[in-house]
Amino acid sequence: MEISRINNKLFWILLVVAATNYVEAQTTDCFYVFGDSLSDDGNNNLLPTLAKYNYPPYGIDFPSGATGRATNGRTVPDYLAQFIGLPFIPPFANTRGSDVLKGVDYASGAAGILFETGKQMGADISLDAQITNHGVTIATVTSELGGVEATKNYLKKCLYYVNIGSNDYLNNYFLPQYYPSSHIYNLTQFADVLISNYSRQLRALHAAGARKFALVSLGFIGCAPAEIIAANVSNGCVQDINTAASIFNDKLRVLVDQLNSDFSADSSFILVNSTAIFSLNPNFLGFKVQNASCCKTVTSTGLCVANGTPCEDRNEYVFWDGFHTTEAVNEIFAESAYNASNPDFTYPNNIARLLSSSPSNTN
Ligand SMILES: *[C@@H]1O[C@H](CO)[C@@H](O)[C@H](O)[C@H]1NC(C)=O
Ligand SMILES: *[C@@H]1O[C@H](CO)[C@@H](O)[C@H](O)[C@H]1NC(C)=O
Ligand SMILES: *[C@@H]1O[C@H](CO)[C@@H](O)[C@H](O)[C@H]1NC(C)=O
Ligand SMILES: *[C@@H]1O[C@H](CO)[C@@H](O)[C@H](O)[C@H]1NC(C)=O
Ligand SMILES: *[C@@H]1O[C@H](CO)[C@@H](O)[C@H](O)[C@H]1NC(C)=O
Repeated sequence: MEISRINNKLFWILLVVAATNYVEAQTTDCFYVFGDSLSDDGNNNLLPTLAKYNYPPYGIDFPSGATGRATNGRTVPDYLAQFIGLPFIPPFANTRGSDVLKGVDYASGAAGILFETGKQMGADISLDAQITNHGVTIATVTSELGGVEATKNYLKKCLYYVNIGSNDYLNNYFLPQYYPSSHIYNLTQFADVLISNYSRQLRALHAAGARKFALVSLGFIGCAPAEIIAANVSNGCVQDINTAASIFNDKLRVLVDQLNSDFSADSSFILVNSTAIFSLNPNFLGFKVQNASCCKTVTSTGLCVANGTPCEDRNEYVFWDGFHTTEAVNEIFAESAYNASNPDFTYPNNIARLLSSSPSNTN
């Protein structure tokens, strides 16, 4: 146990050194994160909601323990920040003054594209509210940098990472006892509602100065252990839910093309293809447990039982709790999005290329 811990630490030190060396070539000093529990790093801690992850065993493998990250260790944005050469990006809930200049994480567990999504669990910060919060950050940046022009020049180099939409299905459409959406819309129509709202929201970020966007498509959300249990599926995943996600994802790709065309003069949008990464990255074959969670979960929420003892072999589990992946999975995912050579993983570019590119009038 001790020896493996030491090795683990050594591994991290080497990785950090490697990532730091690589940074010099990068042009990005700032990273803004929008989304749900897959990216939340503490924004829900003080909200009245069941969607909280700030108690053990969450964070068991994170340097400062349970912080509000919905996993045992680092999230995908944590790894991306490391690859880019930035520190962990602070949650909006904790940021003050100049510490916003390297970025802010606005993500909130249970949140969605739609305002009402996730509200059966309590309060959350929907994507519209996250964008409003980003406006507060921009005002701070403007006073730090001393003007609107300087702020524009700063924002255009920042990475805008958005991973949202899973809860619009899991904590809205597929909970007909709480939400009317499945009575009003079929899956095509609902995906259209989501994509048209998302389009409006991304255009609002562009209008505020964002120029480099990485949009993450939905993963195999019907394969989350909590969904499999809820649907009483004995073998495999909940197919209806995966089908819904793929309808959304196909429309997201069309949106990426549309935005790249509408803003070709000054912006780049990429799609990180979650299902391609999960199904085609050979590194995922090494995980022994694909469909059960590492921690013991509360049936009604799919979240870890407080202070429970999780599995020992966390690197062999895909899922940490009923919904969220382990840090071992998050690391592979982040590498695939950042720097993988497989063209199926990101479209039309990976994140490293998105950051090193400079659209014609961004100089
Ligand atoms: C990205 O890829 C390049 C070239 O393969 C490699 O040198 C670099 O270490 C990679 N960076 C990260 C953070 O994986
Ligand atoms: C939803 O309804 C529209 C209009 O009736 C139809 O064209 C579409 O195929 C339907 N989609 C699904 C997934 O049933
Ligand atoms: C956003 O979604 C709502 C449903 O919650 C819908 O009524 C509205 O038309 C959508 N807005 C846009 C711009 O598509
Ligand atoms: C779950 O499915 C099994 C058969 O696969 C069935 O025997 C059992 O009653 C079901 N449980 C519930 C709660 O529906
Ligand atoms: C993601 O990748 C898979 C496998 O290459 C492909 O079938 C799918 O269409 C892609 N999805 C999107 C939204 O690009």
